[in-house]
Amino acid sequence: MTPREAADLLLAGRPRVPAVAAAEAYAPANIALAKYWGKRDEALNLPTAPSLSVSLGPLGSHVRLSAAEPGAAHDGVSLNGAPLGPETAFARRASAWLDLVRPDPDFRFELQARNTVPTAAGFASSASGFAALAKAADALFGWNLPMESLSVLARLGSGSAARSLADGFVEWRAGERADGMDSFGVPLPERWPSLRVGACVLSSREKPVGSREGMRRSVSSCPFYGGWPGLVARDLAALRSAIANRDMALLGATAEANCLAMHALMLATRPPILYALPETLGTVRAVWAAREEGVPVWFTMDAGPNVKLLFEEAAEPAVRSRFPGATVVAPFA
Ligand code: DP6
Repeated sequence: MTPREAADLLLAGRPRVPAVAAAEAYAPANIALAKYWGKRDEALNLPTAPSLSVSLGPLGSHVRLSAAEPGAAHDGVSLNGAPLGPETAFARRASAWLDLVRPDPDFRFELQARNTVPTAAGFASSASGFAALAKAADALFGWNLPMESLSVLARLGSGSAARSLADGFVEWRAGERADGMDSFGVPLPERWPSLRVGACVLSSREKPVGSREGMRRSVSSCPFYGGWPGLVARDLAALRSAIANRDMALLGATAEANCLAMHALMLATRPPILYALPETLGTVRAVWAAREEGVPVWFTMDAGPNVKLLFEEAAEPAVRSRFPGATVVAPFA
């Protein structure tokens, strides 16, 4: 099934003409505590395993979507106030997603995106961007889709966007259906106001291997990839229990171990994928040293060299003094 066919299935019977002149929407970025690494369907971004994240509240993407003037040659796309040419990577990815909901091939959109995720903070903005875009399209066309359907639409842009439709903790169900209609993000009811996430930016160089290519390689060549879904299932159970009991040590230890297991998969992929830089390992060791000295802080990392810290409000002064460059976020503030 193609992404457009999946979108058509989801939008069957819904209007394909704008209901309002323009629509605005916001979605938060998210950081995974149990990671998504591997697809069972590449075109639809269907994962081999579920994942669980926490949304980053005020760090995310604002999107304004409207119909362009009739006769426009291409979608008008701007990012943080700067107009982008149609050949830029951002505009191409946005237009490819807009193709899924385009009323007819000649219809052009005007899209303004603004990120409150500082580009240099080391958090991905693609998840919040596609989630905000799905919400804005819903408002522009007057679909009134439930959150699950918006999550499916956002997933077609980027897998992790399925987790950015809600605040707080979100579990992305892997689903079993070939059309992916059962693969969407489900928010957990628990709030954890004292939870903090810190981002240590160690390098802003572009990653050597993108997520899509890296996942494809790991699924096909990592000799122990087959063990990943079972490991995620166990980590998810531990994370659910940690969240229910506000057990920071269990949450931190599980997220850290899950992230290291994902990086182990990457390393054992052929050819190998290594995102860590010397500074990455230095920061990992500094987190372990801090813990040995009694500071309750853990880390997680995505497909890149930057490290994210996980801790609670009470540890914030100690964490800030050891990691002075970290950008600290309160996801439930
Ligand atoms: C390591 O969602 O960026 O951050 O579906 O190909 O767009 P695509 O991948 P993407 O992958 C995120 C991978 C990760 C782990 C995670 O966020 O769960």
